[in-house]
Amino acid sequence: MPLVTTTKMFENAYKGGYAVGAFNVNNMEIIQGIVGAAQKLNSPLILQVSKGARAYANHTFLTKLVEAAVYETGLPIALHLDHGPDFETCKSCIDGGFTSVMIDGSAHPYEQNVEITKKVVEYAHEHGVTVEGELGKLAGIEDDVQVSAEDALFTNPDEVEDFVSRTGVDSLAIAIGTSHGAYKFKPGQDPSLRLDILEDIAKRLPGFPIVLHGASSVPQEFVALVNKYGGRMPDAIGIPESELKKAAAMAVCKINIDSDLRLAMTAAVRKHLFENPGDFDPRQYLAPARSAIEDMVAHKIQNVLGCAGKA
Ligand code: G3H
Ligand code: 13P
Ligand code: ZN
Repeated sequence: MPLVTTTKMFENAYKGGYAVGAFNVNNMEIIQGIVGAAQKLNSPLILQVSKGARAYANHTFLTKLVEAAVYETGLPIALHLDHGPDFETCKSCIDGGFTSVMIDGSAHPYEQNVEITKKVVEYAHEHGVTVEGELGKLAGIEDDVQVSAEDALFTNPDEVEDFVSRTGVDSLAIAIGTSHGAYKFKPGQDPSLRLDILEDIAKRLPGFPIVLHGASSVPQEFVALVNKYGGRMPDAIGIPESELKKAAAMAVCKINIDSDLRLAMTAAVRKHLFENPGDFDPRQYLAPARSAIEDMVAHKIQNVLGCAGKA
């Protein structure tokens, strides 16, 4: 099976009351870890590449690694551009073999967001590629953009029908309380999601797939491990998995997770090097890092997304 778009995946996810995991990839071990879990659990998968990942690892290297994952597993896998900043980046990914792109116009005024998103949709659809747009502003860090908690804005349900019909997007990322990065909430703050906004949006867009970004849960045992082996991560809490699970059973069909994979990988590398100070063969510390990613993804598929057995 070749790479797939998100169309069928989201149709099935919406009907089945589950979400597909969209995991960020930056190198071979991350891809192998994610795919290993999806294969064991027979799960569909979205592998997503940010502007930063393309700059770090190179478009062709990442595309070919993802194609290798499809070849090795036969799973339905979509290759997606995460947070496409402009038309040119989206076009380059569409021309370069991606099956799905996000155009993130959420930092622009509404009309400009509509305009840039529509332009990407027109080009993408001519080439058989699906498009995710975004309305609302998440707090946190993505690529070189940092949005403070005060500047974050929940999605306005009054805008969603107009945005979707005028742009023609295939899915919509919304802001209901998630945020990017490992430092989402300080201990003591309320990390619950505005599921009432999600419900309102779902009523206005029946059957339409919704996307959640910034959905890492920042498990405290991993922060503790990083710090035990020499890290200096401050205390922070992420999005409770119980809240994400409720969203996945509603209209949310795609849940983005990156920081939790970084955390699992970093904890494993630190632990290995701490316990084996003589090791200098990267395979010795990247193998446990790859296994840690696999375990984290398996945990998300089974306990948050509900997409095991849905490939
Ligand atoms: O939302 C952003 C993703 O976590 C990607 O992060 O821009 O550092 O690759 P990055
Ligand atoms: P996290 O930082 O919460 O993992 O979010 C990742 C994301 O939204 C990628 O687009
Ligand atoms: Zn994101």
